[in-house]
Amino acid sequence: MKQALLHDVWLVLADAVKQRTPFTLMQLATVGEDGAPKIRTIVLRSFNEASTSLSFITDLRSPKVREITANPCVSLAGFDNERVVQLRIDGRAEIIEDETRRRDFWNALRPHTHILFRSALPPGTVLASPNEMETDDSDPATAYARFCLVEIVISHVERLDLSSEPHRRCSFRQGLHGWEGRWIVP
Ligand SMILES: Cc1cc2nc3c(=O)[nH]c(=O)nc-3n(C[C@H](O)[C@H](O)[C@H](O)COP(=O)(O)O)c2cc1C
Repeated sequence: MKQALLHDVWLVLADAVKQRTPFTLMQLATVGEDGAPKIRTIVLRSFNEASTSLSFITDLRSPKVREITANPCVSLAGFDNERVVQLRIDGRAEIIEDETRRRDFWNALRPHTHILFRSALPPGTVLASPNEMETDDSDPATAYARFCLVEIVISHVERLDLSSEPHRRCSFRQGLHGWEGRWIVP
């Protein structure tokens, strides 16, 4: 039963990166530079079951990149309102510097995603008005230099199912013999 649930989690994550599902967007929490939690929405971009890792993309200049560099411990949370299932994931994030991986990922993105990296102003810069954002620079090499691929190696998964009584909460960690699940009080 527990292994079937874990298998379902991996399927759900694999699905979330292929098409829009409730877990395509997840909330990513980092430890802020001031020691307080910071949370924001991200798009899951890839999932690798063999290495149990996820990835997302961001702007290299964004605060979350500095936060991850200082402390790689991150958490993700998502909720499927139809299945009434919550997933919580803990892991270690790494800024991928391997040029081949970065380039391959960049090349697979849609052009409208490349545009997100064209702002000359770093994310979080104070603006006098939203129109100031029009100061784009359009050089593709500069946009690529700002592109950041982040990989999260999963260390803990928790699945909470509220769809029937009794509610079911199962926690999974990697043990000596692979992933091991435990039922916990919801
Ligand atoms: C639907 C949605 C999807 C988003 N996807 C991403 C994403 O994949 N990567 C990202 O860096 N920011 C994404 N954002 C913006 C972040 O939530 C956040 O506002 C921004 O990255 C700044 O975060 P930071 O200041 O903590 O670095 C998304 C926001 C929304 C509403």
